[in-house]
Amino acid sequence: MKFAILSRNTRLYSTRRLVEAARQRGHSVRVLDPLRCYMRIGKDGFALHYKGQSLAGYGAVIPRIGASINRYGNAVLHQFELMGCHTPNPSAAIAAARDKLRCHQLLAVQGIDMPVTVFGDNPDDTDDLLAMLGPPPHVIKLTEGSQGRGVMLTEKPSASRGVVDALRGLYATFLLQEYIAEAGGADIRCLVVGDRVVAAMRRQAPDGDFRANLHRGGVAEAFDLDPGAAEVAVRAARVLGLGVAGVDLILSARGPLVLEVNASPGLEGIERSTGVDVAGLIVEFVAAGATGGGMKSRTRVRRRARTKD
Ligand SMILES: Nc1ncnc2c1ncn2[C@@H]1O[C@H](COP(=O)(O)OP(=O)(O)O)[C@@H](O)[C@H]1O
Ligand SMILES: [Mg+2]
Repeated sequence: MKFAILSRNTRLYSTRRLVEAARQRGHSVRVLDPLRCYMRIGKDGFALHYKGQSLAGYGAVIPRIGASINRYGNAVLHQFELMGCHTPNPSAAIAAARDKLRCHQLLAVQGIDMPVTVFGDNPDDTDDLLAMLGPPPHVIKLTEGSQGRGVMLTEKPSASRGVVDALRGLYATFLLQEYIAEAGGADIRCLVVGDRVVAAMRRQAPDGDFRANLHRGGVAEAFDLDPGAAEVAVRAARVLGLGVAGVDLILSARGPLVLEVNASPGLEGIERSTGVDVAGLIVEFVAAGATGGGMKSRTRVRRRARTKD
């Protein structure tokens, strides 16, 4: 099968590992910079080009779309989908996962537990909003933050109000959550591939911080996940429509809570700490899901057949 990996940088660990895993399994694979993909969209059909050439014949595309190119990268991925290319993570699912508000709404309605979360827009509502959340400490997060950036802890109501006012002044969108103190600055990253957790690691925040992100100096070790928590992670990925996901759980007194679902999880920390060939499992899962001959160089727009009533 011919694989495309949408990634900005061939030297990144995760990209390199996916290329290696695909080649080891006899697939041909090419890394495409999503920002060099461009397209023609018309009533008569689609065309997708890369550095002057038409893209065709890809059976599957593995998106590795980071936060910084989310919108354009997702439009490119959508084009691959419209042209009949299989992907484990559709563009609509990636968009939902990136937006913390939307993600929390979708998970909560399916009965998946998470830290209690509030959000609001108007400064006049701040006092009632904080009352809906309950007493501090509170965790305040930018809705489109990542790698622990834009995640803050406030210990007093006046601090919560101050941060909320400051963020509003900057026109930032954010949410507020109950602080899960009993997690002790640790969270669990579960790598979901299809319908199972293939690897899990526990990340511990460094002294003096409550954020366990590896980018913030957190340290990781393999973690033996119990079946109940694994099921929560798999359900969270499924609710969002992601075949491959990094689901972050925080272990609270009332059970595992979903913190976030990452559609382009990094592979370095999880492979190194667990020794699992996650890239290989992803490639096998994607290859098994792809059927048919792959995308054509130019695709006619398919219209939905009209039904007579
Ligand atoms: N409600 C919370 N209670 C306790 N710790 C939290 C809470 N929310 C986040 N954290 C800690 O902060 C880290 C970053 O939060 P997260 O929501 O994953 O944002 P990001 O997208 O920036 O990684 C988490 O990995 C966790 O360690
Ligand atoms: Mg996180």
